[in-house]
Amino acid sequence: MQNDQLILGIETSCDDTAIALLKGKEVLAKLSFGQEETLAKWGGVVPEIAARNHLEKLVPVIRTVFKKSKMDPSDLSAISVTTVPGLLGPLLTGVNAAKTLALLFEKPIIPVNHLYAHLEAIHLSEDITYPYLGLLISGGHSIFFSVEAKDRFRVIAGTIDDAAGEAFDKGGKLLGLGYPAGHLIDRCAQFGEHGIYEFPIGLKASADARLSFSGLKTSLKVFLEKSPHIVNLRPNQFETKEEESQEFYNVCASYQRAISQALLLKTRYALQQVETDQIVLGGGVACNSKIREDFLKLYPKTKIVLPEYCTDNGAMIANFGRINWEKAIDFPDCLQIDARGRFTSKASNDSISKS
Ligand code: KG4
Ligand code: ZN
Repeated sequence: MQNDQLILGIETSCDDTAIALLKGKEVLAKLSFGQEETLAKWGGVVPEIAARNHLEKLVPVIRTVFKKSKMDPSDLSAISVTTVPGLLGPLLTGVNAAKTLALLFEKPIIPVNHLYAHLEAIHLSEDITYPYLGLLISGGHSIFFSVEAKDRFRVIAGTIDDAAGEAFDKGGKLLGLGYPAGHLIDRCAQFGEHGIYEFPIGLKASADARLSFSGLKTSLKVFLEKSPHIVNLRPNQFETKEEESQEFYNVCASYQRAISQALLLKTRYALQQVETDQIVLGGGVACNSKIREDFLKLYPKTKIVLPEYCTDNGAMIANFGRINWEKAIDFPDCLQIDARGRFTSKASNDSISKS
């Protein structure tokens, strides 16, 4: 019976208004509305603006997804919504949309931890059993999890400063690529040689799984101060190679390699703390072609979330709801927010406040 549940996924934890409808494991329809113009203008996410944009986009995006899938909200089995972690204003818009739909159509809500959903998105494309070592690499987080069951995520180690995505985005900003820059560095690196420049690997000698990327970003800053001409060699477009940009491409490739090498090295230590050699990569940075290639080469048992489900999306939220179906909360025992901005519910206080 669990196989053909129809679940709506609502993701608004940051800047993407991302909605999807999942029937069993099949994604019937999905739509994501990003905020690139705002991001470009402000150089990053402005929580208040992001929340207002979600408010504007949520209804039309949800409507479109139902229309595309030829489904009706009354057909839903449940509504999955990201409740933690994220920016409070943006999260609230998604949760309130979920609550409104739940009230109108008398449907249960399934609260979703965004980080777990990133990793569990692997089930959308692979058959995988627990336990596995999960490496979540996104714009806000870089964490090794021992994933022991669908509801047992143990943190092994994480970054002590910047996340891997921040290393890409801050590096990209220094290189004049705008925000977010991960996919652009990835593109440029494909035309470059990664062994030309040496960028540091954070906490290289620490013999544990902790990550650090702030030194890497600083080393790029220092490098560019000494070689300011590199930024002017930035290509005009990213589809085809521009000969005069070779040095720029080489810097991108070398910088990207340092991030990949750091993740590969620290994975070795993380593996020592789990009872499995199965690895799952998820989160926006797991789109990166070099990181995907390097992991599959060094750790052949790595499984990587499909690129379309790596960056924030509604399908991963619906999928996590599908997997955690028994956590569904019936209206009116619905999600509430306490004075500290934490989500709670009368029905499953524990499962929510812990996540
Ligand atoms: O998972 P995500 O969409 O949002 C968070 O939960 O943070 O990840 C966004 C991050 C950004 O830092 C972006 O630059 C990075 O993922 N990213 C990439 C690539 N595509 C997106 N980083 C490296 N290579 C890529 N191809
Ligand atoms: Zn994310």
